[in-house]
Amino acid sequence: MSVPAQTQRVLSGMRPTGRLHLGHYHGVLRNWVRLQNEYECFFFVADWHALTTHYADPRVIEESVWDMVIDWIAAGVDPRSATLFIQSRVPEHAELHLLLSMITPLPWLERIPSYKDQQAKLKDKDLGTYGFLGYPLLQSADILAYRAGLVPVGEDQVAHVELTREVARRFNHLYGREPGFEERAEAAIARMGKKTAKLYSERRAAYLERGDREALDTARALLEKQKNITLGEKELLFGYLEGGGRMILAEPQALLTAAPKMPGLDGQKMSKSYNNVISLRDTPDEVTQKIRPMPTDPARIRRTDPGDPDKCPVWDFHLIYSDDKTRQWVQTGCRSAGIGCLECKQPVIDAVQAEIAPIRERALQLAQDPGEVKTIVADGCRRAREAAEETLADARRAMGLGYS
Ligand code: TRP
Ligand code: SF4
Repeated sequence: MSVPAQTQRVLSGMRPTGRLHLGHYHGVLRNWVRLQNEYECFFFVADWHALTTHYADPRVIEESVWDMVIDWIAAGVDPRSATLFIQSRVPEHAELHLLLSMITPLPWLERIPSYKDQQAKLKDKDLGTYGFLGYPLLQSADILAYRAGLVPVGEDQVAHVELTREVARRFNHLYGREPGFEERAEAAIARMGKKTAKLYSERRAAYLERGDREALDTARALLEKQKNITLGEKELLFGYLEGGGRMILAEPQALLTAAPKMPGLDGQKMSKSYNNVISLRDTPDEVTQKIRPMPTDPARIRRTDPGDPDKCPVWDFHLIYSDDKTRQWVQTGCRSAGIGCLECKQPVIDAVQAEIAPIRERALQLAQDPGEVKTIVADGCRRAREAAEETLADARRAMGLGYS
């Protein structure tokens, strides 16, 4: 069972492991900015996630946290639309991770591709730890704690969302039939008001007794519109519609970012570890100094040698930043040796400078007033805790920890 469209929450996290760069901007942040206007969004600093790989040198984490939030806001993430918070300030993530660990079969974690891939890739780190094996499950807890329906992630993270779905399904299967469920469902129904309650109950009966799919659909639509019950109650009633079993944890969906891949200065993916990034806070001079020496088509040794844009990382930048006319100018000029490479790089330099100048300016401004960002995050942490607590109360009760 998944969360129906209109009530969907969006949740995503980012690891604080250094300065944000154009790769984050084009790959993630622009997407967040778009989503914040369409959905209820929760965006968080995944500091516990960072510890799973940086436990031996955690300094970079504390050094990056505030700057990262500043860069988010500078790039257009609006704390009035989205809830911004820090994972470790919402202990519910840890608690749900622990609870989920009880029911998660080890092979589910061992078979996730990133487990072996990352161990092979980050050979200088010992990733044979309990924390590293469990980190996709921590991610599941991040998502499930908010009953998020949509999780914007890159391709490398899709397997983690898939794990999350499986864990939620297993949880609901194991605990969706707890005693007292029916009473609570009936109480939630009553809270919708007389008329809606009657409609809901009639349609539920029509579906359960006669298998009337249309009744199921209209009852769902009815629930989606409800404003006077909590998200938790709503999910209770979605589960109740289909019988006794209750959807305690909601299965999320991955939202693949359709963003173009931001290449680095050397043509590989832009990444701090490749030392090929343009940071969101680079000055115009730094941008110039980074782009001018970029490698180009190796066949263009002399100015008079014709080149092929397809073999040149600068062309990848033109694909992101230039209009058709400029691209045409590059294609013709490069292949005929009509333009020089420095000439060709200039429009890219101009475009990157124009893109990051306002971000840099806002970031520097925000950095002058650390109190403001801390207030924003404190407020976000409070709101996040409230939302997560609702789920945790249900999860604890479902697992037999609801003593009072
Ligand atoms: N694991 C993600 C990454 O490395 C970050 C992350 C943590 C995340 N928790 C999440 C993303 C929950 C989406 C939803 O990029
Ligand atoms: Fe690359 Fe432009 Fe030089 Fe061609 S002219 S090799 S596209 S930088």
